[in-house]
Amino acid sequence: MTASISDHLLAWYDRNARDLPWRLPPGSALPDDPAWPYRVWLSEVMLQQTTVAAVKPYFAKFTGIWPTVEALAAASDDDVMAAWAGLGYYSRARNLLKCARAVAERGGFPSNEAELRALPGLGDYTAAAVAAIAFGQRAVVVDANVERVVARLFAIEEPLPKARKAIRAAADTITPYTRAGDFAQAMMDLGSHVCTSRAPRCLLCPLAEACAGRKQGEPERLPVKPPKKAVPERRGTAFWLTRGEGAEVWLVTRPGEGMLGGMRALPDDGWTARKDGSGEAPLAGEWRTLGAVRHGFTHASLTLEVRALETGQAPHGEGQWWPVASIGEAGLATLFAKAAQLAQAEA
Ligand code: ADE
Repeated sequence: MTASISDHLLAWYDRNARDLPWRLPPGSALPDDPAWPYRVWLSEVMLQQTTVAAVKPYFAKFTGIWPTVEALAAASDDDVMAAWAGLGYYSRARNLLKCARAVAERGGFPSNEAELRALPGLGDYTAAAVAAIAFGQRAVVVDANVERVVARLFAIEEPLPKARKAIRAAADTITPYTRAGDFAQAMMDLGSHVCTSRAPRCLLCPLAEACAGRKQGEPERLPVKPPKKAVPERRGTAFWLTRGEGAEVWLVTRPGEGMLGGMRALPDDGWTARKDGSGEAPLAGEWRTLGAVRHGFTHASLTLEVRALETGQAPHGEGQWWPVASIGEAGLATLFAKAAQLAQAEA
């Protein structure tokens, strides 16, 4: 029974694997190429909390500019943060660079899960995924898709997040010793295309016969989710400060490790995830309110008012005048890109 679950799944994967830019065809030997673990790691970091469709162009851009981990390690923080702009969860980009530098320094990626786990930004999931996919090591790879498949297959009734321990233990019992990468990615594909959240397509599922959740008649009930917490509403202000009759706009680089840290941005009034902004502008003057943009973070919903001022003067502190015509190349996070769009439309 245990062996046959992975056999059924792998046979299904042989016929149905998605063709993705970071993947080998099912059953392939692992390439003897140092760029291979790099590509797997890069894709797995990008795919955290992000869809395959959103990741594809970023993966192409990054591997085009930085084809090896050494090339990425040598890149400037600014270039990497700007290239990541729009993909979200920017701490991933900061950790990506830290990790690339650590890996380049040690002469390549380690091939076992424990050493991978010790690298910056690699949590349990990413370390297991890279060990399995890049190096063919047996590892228990559990992301949200796999969680759903396993909770249903074994009819695990305990609610998330507590159920994670039981789900992991159950996933361990079906993880094979061969074709580790194919098995991990087969589980992901099954979760994202067949064992879907709302309307699982059990008729197409290679594991339907073995599925305890299906036998109970309501697989979509599993895994049991905790009640959703209300997301707090926040308010803040972004400032569109221009000179040369709107030709250039003042941009800052957000500090350190905080929210959107290291990203180029419009100056703002100090709103964070935890408090509203002060409304205070970086420069005194007759600011015009242009409107507001909305943006959803995982931990807060933000309404960002956008105010504009034409000036001849730079505000105090670090920053730069940026040509408005090439604002698309500034690498603004989505929130500030929305604010810039509003400002350009209204200015
Ligand atoms: N999500 C996370 N990793 C993935 C992978 N390797 N293939 C498809 N979806 C994924």
